[in-house]
Amino acid sequence: MKSKRILVAPSVLSADFSEIGSVVEKLRHTEADMIHCDVMDGHFVPNITFGAKFVKDLRQHTSLPLDIHLMISDPGKYADDFIDAGADCISFHIEAVKDCESLIRRIRSADVECGLAISPDTDVEKAAEYLSLLNKVVLMSVYPGFGGQKFMESAYGRMCKLKNMISESGANTLVEVDGGVSFSNACDIVEGGADILVAGNAVFGSDDMGKAISELKSAKRK
Ligand code: DX5
Ligand code: ZN
Repeated sequence: MKSKRILVAPSVLSADFSEIGSVVEKLRHTEADMIHCDVMDGHFVPNITFGAKFVKDLRQHTSLPLDIHLMISDPGKYADDFIDAGADCISFHIEAVKDCESLIRRIRSADVECGLAISPDTDVEKAAEYLSLLNKVVLMSVYPGFGGQKFMESAYGRMCKLKNMISESGANTLVEVDGGVSFSNACDIVEGGADILVAGNAVFGSDDMGKAISELKSAKRK
């Protein structure tokens, strides 16, 4: 059976923000499929990163899709700002929103892809009713808030459950695994059903980010 190509999304959280324009320009010469941008508000998660202005500025430096991961308390309030900034996909947390369906519909009606992110302690079952509306589910394999954390082994069971839910629903929702992805666990994560690997430290902590991305991209189902 021909193995499926894995998509790799370098997370700029681990890059040097003072050089971010040239960093994302360099990504054009790699096999990166999109650029993962972690937006944190110091309230939903205990860390602060950047907002829509940063994303708008990044947009000037790359034609790669911008994959926005909102780790903020009121994503509905800011979704339009990220749409206007040039986001290609916006993911928000299921734990942060009461009416997920209307926010998903609002994002998609702006012709922007939508993902639903699920923190480690949330039952993936909660995403079941939204699968057919979503482009992807972002399965968190660390507690959101910081780069460079250790992959939580509990993610394998959650991924398995999520994959079964997706196949039962007949939807073609992708699974993006975010947090602690490394060269040593990438094959297992892909084997577990990931379609997209987010990688911060593995890419920006290496001497050769192009090589690091290629290595992650060649992770195959056994
Ligand atoms: C964590 C972020 C991740 C993070 C991944 O809250 O959502 O996207 O940047 O970084 P690594 O790959 O270093 O765990
Ligand atoms: Zn993220």
